[in-house]
Amino acid sequence: MQIATSILNAEDRLKCIKKLNNTSTDYVHIDVMDNKFVPNYQLPVKEVNNLSYYTKRPFDIHLMAENPKAYISKLNTQNIVSIAIHIEISRDLNEIIKMIKELNIKVGLAINPNTDINLLDNYLDKVDYILVMSVNPGFGGQQFIENTPERIKMIKAKKPNIIIEVDGGINDKTIKKINKLADIAVVGSYIVKKENYEKAINSLKK
Ligand code: DX5
Ligand code: ZN
Repeated sequence: MQIATSILNAEDRLKCIKKLNNTSTDYVHIDVMDNKFVPNYQLPVKEVNNLSYYTKRPFDIHLMAENPKAYISKLNTQNIVSIAIHIEISRDLNEIIKMIKELNIKVGLAINPNTDINLLDNYLDKVDYILVMSVNPGFGGQQFIENTPERIKMIKAKKPNIIIEVDGGINDKTIKKINKLADIAVVGSYIVKKENYEKAINSLKK
C-alpha cells in the first residue's frame, strides 16, 4: 500500500512539504477546490506552484473543480505525476482526460460517496486510476464512510486490475478496511497533525 500525504489540514503547508521531503511518503496529495464544486477554496494554484518548487516528493493532484482545464493550464506540472478530476462535473470528461494525458501525467477519475458506480463504465478503459472518496469532499478531518470497501469491490468487479486510490478519514485503524483492496491511501490529518510524520507513515504501512 502506497501513502499519499494530504497537506490540506497542515498548519504551515510549506513547513509540511519540507518535513515530508525527509519521510517515506510515496506522494504528496494536493487538494485543489474551486468553491463551486465543493464549498471551500483550497489550495490556490499560486500556492501549489510555490510548494512544488520545494518538494522532493511527487505531487498527486485532486481537482475538485467544475472547470478543471482552467486549473490544469495554470499548474506548474514539473513535479506532478497524477491528476484526478471528478466524474460528477458537467463537462466533456474525454476532452479533459486527453488534455492530462498529453501532458504525460497519469489521469484519475474521482467518485463521491453517493455517486452511482455504474457511471464509471464508459471511462474505466480511459483512465489510469479511480480515486474513491471515503468522505464527502471539501474538508479534511472527516470520518471514513463505512461502505467504501463495498464500493471498491464493485469497481474491481468491473475491472480487476484498475488502480484504486482512497481518500478521506484514513488512519491506522480505518486503513485496515481497505489495505487489501486499494493501491494508494490518501492520508491527511492522521499524519500532518503529528509531530513525527515518519512514525505515523510507518504505522500505516504495517
Ligand atoms: C477531502 C480531501 C482529502 C482530505 C483528506 O476533500 O480530498 O484529501 O484532505 O484528509 P483526512 O485524511 O484528514 O480525511
Ligand atoms: Zn483529496
